[in-house]
Amino acid sequence: MSTTFKLDTATSRAHPTPQPMRRLTVPKIQSRKADGATKEPLVMLTAYTARTAQLLDEHCDILLVGDSLGQVIYGLPTTLQVTLDMMIAHGAAVVRGSYHSVVVVDMPFGSYEASPQQAFESASRIMAETGCAAVKLEGGQAMAETIAFLSQRGIPVMAHVGLTPQAVNALGGYGARGRSQEEHAKIMADGNAVQEAGAFAVVIEGVIEPIAIALTQALEIPTIGIGASAQCDGQVLVTEDMLGMFERVPRFVKRYEDMASVISKAAGTYAEEVRARTFPGEDQTYQPKS
Ligand code: KIV
Repeated sequence: MSTTFKLDTATSRAHPTPQPMRRLTVPKIQSRKADGATKEPLVMLTAYTARTAQLLDEHCDILLVGDSLGQVIYGLPTTLQVTLDMMIAHGAAVVRGSYHSVVVVDMPFGSYEASPQQAFESASRIMAETGCAAVKLEGGQAMAETIAFLSQRGIPVMAHVGLTPQAVNALGGYGARGRSQEEHAKIMADGNAVQEAGAFAVVIEGVIEPIAIALTQALEIPTIGIGASAQCDGQVLVTEDMLGMFERVPRFVKRYEDMASVISKAAGTYAEEVRARTFPGEDQTYQPKS
């Protein structure tokens, strides 16, 4: 897949021009797991803006507009303060910036838990106003009825089990799940319930590895791990975490870059040059036409 860019002379901004191609679809993602195995693991990253989507699109199968944008973009303490309007604004931007990946938008806390009907109203707004292909919601057995309600009405659902950040207050923190027999059994039951209800894939977050492996082997739908196991059918990370934008990251994050240092260095050099009046230089300054 490739994307070309042309300059919009009205705004001086580069806009991507898609080459003729077809976006991946939810059925194609689901069918990457056949007979219990995924030959080519699914690649998923979070994206919250059009420009990030443009850069990630060619490398990913799925772009997730995660409600982690609450902390990453808005500096909120948890995902609980994220609203439907925020998710819709960022979801639409990511759809505009991508041509290849399936875009999945998180349903924020409070927008779906009350009833399947409430979930349908929120999910249909997300789908209609962003153009995304699917929604993601947190919860297993407790959300099975809702997942079935949405799936049967044309809304593909990615489920999310294990460590579910919207339940941080009930869970008592962000520690790995599944260390007790009871938790182990619950996570397995949750995974089976969301598959039974019609979810097309399931994120397994922050669980001890044997559970992630057992669930991946037990389910026909793809599992996407984060803090789970390399044996899941795919992986997801928060892009800003893997780019090294934050000093503190969870143990399961691998930093592929140190973008915080790159940005700080560039801003420091800019500040020095402004103070020394060496920026703007000749190349960045307009002169009268001779
Ligand atoms: O909100 C998010 O970014 C997520 C991923 C961490 C799976 O749900």
